[in-house]
Amino acid sequence: MESPGNRRIVIEPLTRVEGHGKVTILLDHDHRVLSARLHIVEFRGFERFVQGRPIQEIPVLVQRLCGICPVSHHLCAAKAVDGILGIDKLTPTGEKMRRLMHYGQIFQSHALHFFYLAAPDLLFGFESPVATRNIIGIAAAHPELARQGVAMRRFGQEIVQATAGKRIHGTGAIPGGINKNLSPAERDALRAEMATMLAWSRQAVALARDLTLGHFDELAALGTFASHHASLVRPDGAMELYDGKLRAIDSHGAKILDQVNPLDYLDILAEEVRPWSYMKFPYLKKLGPGDGWFRVGPLARVNTCDFIPTPEADAARREFLSASGSGSGPCNMTMGYHWARMIELLHAAEEIARLLDDPDLQGNELVAPAGSRRAEFVAMLEAPRGTLTHHYRVDDDGRVTMANLIVSTTCNNEAMNRTVARIAEQKLAGRAVITEGLLNQIEVGIRAYDPCLSCATHALGSMPLEVTLEGPDGSELDRRTRSS
Ligand code: MG
Ligand code: NI
Repeated sequence: MESPGNRRIVIEPLTRVEGHGKVTILLDHDHRVLSARLHIVEFRGFERFVQGRPIQEIPVLVQRLCGICPVSHHLCAAKAVDGILGIDKLTPTGEKMRRLMHYGQIFQSHALHFFYLAAPDLLFGFESPVATRNIIGIAAAHPELARQGVAMRRFGQEIVQATAGKRIHGTGAIPGGINKNLSPAERDALRAEMATMLAWSRQAVALARDLTLGHFDELAALGTFASHHASLVRPDGAMELYDGKLRAIDSHGAKILDQVNPLDYLDILAEEVRPWSYMKFPYLKKLGPGDGWFRVGPLARVNTCDFIPTPEADAARREFLSASGSGSGPCNMTMGYHWARMIELLHAAEEIARLLDDPDLQGNELVAPAGSRRAEFVAMLEAPRGTLTHHYRVDDDGRVTMANLIVSTTCNNEAMNRTVARIAEQKLAGRAVITEGLLNQIEVGIRAYDPCLSCATHALGSMPLEVTLEGPDGSELDRRTRSS
């Protein structure tokens, strides 16, 4: 691939994605894009670090993996521990408290991404100065919107705090259930904000829709391509973010697989290792490594499910598919992630409202009794960024002998690479010149996936953005640097 006739453009790091990445664009002699490579150093230390630890400790330990999405890891590990302990059904209080925690995390994560990371690009345009494309810029130009973004994020964090005990690195989910219920005072405090949160969620869906449809051609140019989509769904095909079984569809909406039990994930999923990348490339075995890659996360979930089990988000889903997809088929536009993410924000708000009205949250049966122990278990859930898998094996003393995690961001690896390649093809258009516009669009394209690089990577610290263009003989043709 990297013959002497090919040129390489290197971009590092990406600003405003969580963590760090580095991009290399491979060009041939005629400056045509051969491929793009997103270099992310996948964090594998955790899988070794937990060897020998008692399985019950894992839900707390696993949160060290990531400071950005610890709740997702906490809950996924807790589900795996339940399985190892033979606990197949939680008490209503245990199950609903965990769901509330999960929807709270999704709400805060989606609000953070949209208002702090995505809205600045969508509102000001990708070519606007980097210095104003941030939440500070939003606060100056759209103070009400910035205020809502901050308050929505805080509301999600308050839910996490009330269910997990702390905003980050909580201990709420314990083997077989939860260690606290929701007190009437906690419930009332959250309920007091609920009508506002629902109203603002509706407005966020409308804003994401208007920004997407208002700049449709421009956004569609940023990495629209046919892909498979995967997510968990309920037995009736409904969107299911906390539990469910795996479904994958093709770019037209035909089912490739459906209702796959997480325990059988190794029968259908494999991970390709490529010599240039530390991050693996998951694919569906049925289609093979070349063809079996897929997208996960908000866009994939809105595409794969038959419906969303809350009425307002489902109405928004139908509007999304008819406006952005091919009729009622899946949307294959990378920039469709933003609108889909806000539909999920509204879904999370509706679920939170429903749960806050449920008296089971004040129940006192927090933990279900253990059943007969298993040597191995696999849990999956839909984290804000996509399908998350935790697989553990234990010895007779209940100590971990094997851990395998597939994080959401890793599942989107191939799709992110293709997004960069597609943008570079269009933006370079045969010229070997790095423009500010190319940098901006690559960032915007990758950011749509909301990659959690700190989950998938070793963080390297802050560095300026640097782009280098190398000629066929390895000489530097162009270089651009941007301070972060
Ligand atoms: Mg892994
Ligand atoms: Ni993470």
